[in-house]
Amino acid sequence: MMLMNSFRQPKFWKTYFTPNRYSYDQIPDLTGKVAIVTGANTGIGYATTVGLAGQGAHVILACRSKERAMAAIERAKKEIKEKYPNAPKPRLEFLDLDLNDMRKCRDAAKSFLERGLPLHILICNSGIMVSPFELSADGIETQFAVNHMGHFVFTTTLLDRIKESQPSRIVIVSSIAHEGPVSGGIDFETLNDPSKSDNVSRYGRSKLANILFTKALARRMAGEHVHVNVLHPGYVSTELIRFAKDKFGFVQWVTNMIGVTPEMGALTQLYLATSPEVESQDIRGRYFIPIANELQPTAYAQDEELQEKLWKFSEELVREKIGA
Ligand SMILES: NC(=O)c1ccc[n+]([C@@H]2O[C@H](COP(=O)([O-])OP(=O)(O)OC[C@H]3O[C@@H](n4cnc5c(N)ncnc54)[C@H](OP(=O)(O)O)[C@@H]3O)[C@@H](O)[C@H]2O)c1
Repeated sequence: MMLMNSFRQPKFWKTYFTPNRYSYDQIPDLTGKVAIVTGANTGIGYATTVGLAGQGAHVILACRSKERAMAAIERAKKEIKEKYPNAPKPRLEFLDLDLNDMRKCRDAAKSFLERGLPLHILICNSGIMVSPFELSADGIETQFAVNHMGHFVFTTTLLDRIKESQPSRIVIVSSIAHEGPVSGGIDFETLNDPSKSDNVSRYGRSKLANILFTKALARRMAGEHVHVNVLHPGYVSTELIRFAKDKFGFVQWVTNMIGVTPEMGALTQLYLATSPEVESQDIRGRYFIPIANELQPTAYAQDEELQEKLWKFSEELVREKIGA
């Protein structure tokens, strides 16, 4: 259903015909900047980490597996040495973050805050796609929990530090799949009812939530030098398809045919996280597709009432499950 809806949308095709407006050699010197990347151990998050640390940023890899994160850190150090021979010794660290559990998200953010570091760049990149129906540690449908709620708790707990560190950026990774949820945008009453949605539309719903959250957060950051933006990274060849390929046999084949590398897939989020243009043109609350091209997301995503409804719903859910 989601794919059908996406194809009916007039904008789906555009992601394949837009120019490349950002490249690795345009990333400015990031010495002195502190960044957190969620889901940094693999895929687009890993490539983003290398891109940031290669220009001198101190990058915190917020991941759910210490083992995978430490392996990624070792790999990134070698890669940076090869790709950026003049770069200073990379500063890469692990932060324990399980987005499937809101209390752990708050604890992860607090443990970062206790270190007293500034936070100039937060990239909410982690995601799961088309996973079978399950409930999170807090009893929330897992795609919505991991892709939206976990990042909501993590980001809002870090927000004061991000404001203190301005100019700063928050980048939320959504998807073209936000075009897909079935009618009504998000029905908050039936989030946890498996009979009202399927694995594919649940992914689309969570990615729509990413854009709604971005726009509501950007509104709250008006007047601050905190630029909050959202993007679709393109069709990127990563491990994200692990569930989709079980459900649809053709997914692996399509990925091999048209999926771009994680390095290419990382460029739009690197643009929003690092390009001086974002500040000079005061880019806020906007949605981008590869590479660094602005696009209007769907009408649901632009619906201010729905954006505020999601914010209120998320706040109340946090209060109910883990307290203020
Ligand atoms: N690939 C694409 O074509 C595409 C297209 C549109 C949007 N996106 C979006 O791009 C983002 C990155 O995806 P990707 O393609 O790089 O996928 P990926 O290779 O599967 O990476 C996803 C990352 O999210 C992490 N993650 C999953 N569950 C988590 C949890 N409970 N707590 C913390 N981290 C968790 C994973 O950790 P583990 O390694 O431990 O599982 C991994 O680091 C996602 O938000 C995705 O929706 C991707």
